[in-house]
Amino acid sequence: MTKTGTVAVLPGDGIGPEVTEQALRVIDKLNAEFSAGLTWQSAPVGGAAYDLHGHPLPPDTLALARSADAILLGAVGGPKWENITREHRPERALLALRSELELFANLRPAFLFPELAAASTLKPEVVSGLDIMIVRELTGGIYFGQPRGLTTDDHGVRFGFNTMVYREPEIRRIAHTAFRIARQRNKRVCSVDKANVMEVSELWREIVTDVGSEYPDVGLSHMYIDNACMQLVRAPKQFDVIVTTNLFGDILSDAASMLTGSIGMLPSASLDADNKGMYEPVHGSAPDIAGQDIANPLATILSVGMMLRTTFDNTKLANKVENAVREVLADGLRTGDIANHGEPIVGTREMGDAVVAAIG
Ligand code: IPM
Ligand code: MG
Repeated sequence: MTKTGTVAVLPGDGIGPEVTEQALRVIDKLNAEFSAGLTWQSAPVGGAAYDLHGHPLPPDTLALARSADAILLGAVGGPKWENITREHRPERALLALRSELELFANLRPAFLFPELAAASTLKPEVVSGLDIMIVRELTGGIYFGQPRGLTTDDHGVRFGFNTMVYREPEIRRIAHTAFRIARQRNKRVCSVDKANVMEVSELWREIVTDVGSEYPDVGLSHMYIDNACMQLVRAPKQFDVIVTTNLFGDILSDAASMLTGSIGMLPSASLDADNKGMYEPVHGSAPDIAGQDIANPLATILSVGMMLRTTFDNTKLANKVENAVREVLADGLRTGDIANHGEPIVGTREMGDAVVAAIG
């Protein structure tokens, strides 16, 4: 059963508003021509919200995000806000949204469109056909663990500290997410940890193994994070689903994104236990190219596809969005980040126009 519902749109900073605008044109078309039934409302977040309201996640924005069925976020941050206090930095809005809404499962696909094989820095034979899903735990681990702080000891020496902590239920639920996703794919899960050094990883490995016994049809392997980084650039096609902690997932997903040629192509979903989700491009706010109509809107448009598929159970419209992106790539449309040397380049809006036109 497909669902209709509300989307909170948080464009944010830098290129966020530009790429979000193109994604909204896609939603508008799906509403107008295919009765998608998605109503959306936007609100400021990140640096833009700080400038307007003195806080990166104003109460009204959080309330809107809470009440919506899904959230579409552009990007947050930029040099303008680098020197304000930690609690007011744009990134805090992201972390607060994740934790307030309990969006514990972060899905980051690293998928190579065949047309873009040449855009990868790795040899085409190493990456062609690449299709990995990174499942990153998003509301625990060292990002949120207590105690944490920055202080001075009795001898006047400053020190900073964070705690990597996982409770069994947190590991269990993200492991279930990963195994369920693997069942829809190639039925392999690789759990990434640092169990040779850290107790928290020892528990992680034990619980993931235990959950894995409930999925006998899914193959489970374990890898240390350092080796996983190496394997990811050496032979990335060995992976199907990777499940890992918040910090390791942050690092691995950036590396994985580059295998696909451009971080400008990759969508992501951050889900709660009921598949309510926040959808956003994996790329950041790219302040250096903001406002110039040159950013790639495809990651944000593909995020709308993930939203339709996951939160609204609308496979038909999700496929339409993804096929439209494939079609414009096959037609040779390229923003600067995915163009080969000498290929003609289109701007953000022109790429949006093409995708909107290709949805049919
Ligand atoms: C990401 C980003 C964030 C993170 C930052 C902006 C807080 O790098 O979504 O991967 O570290 O989670
Ligand atoms: Mg990151």
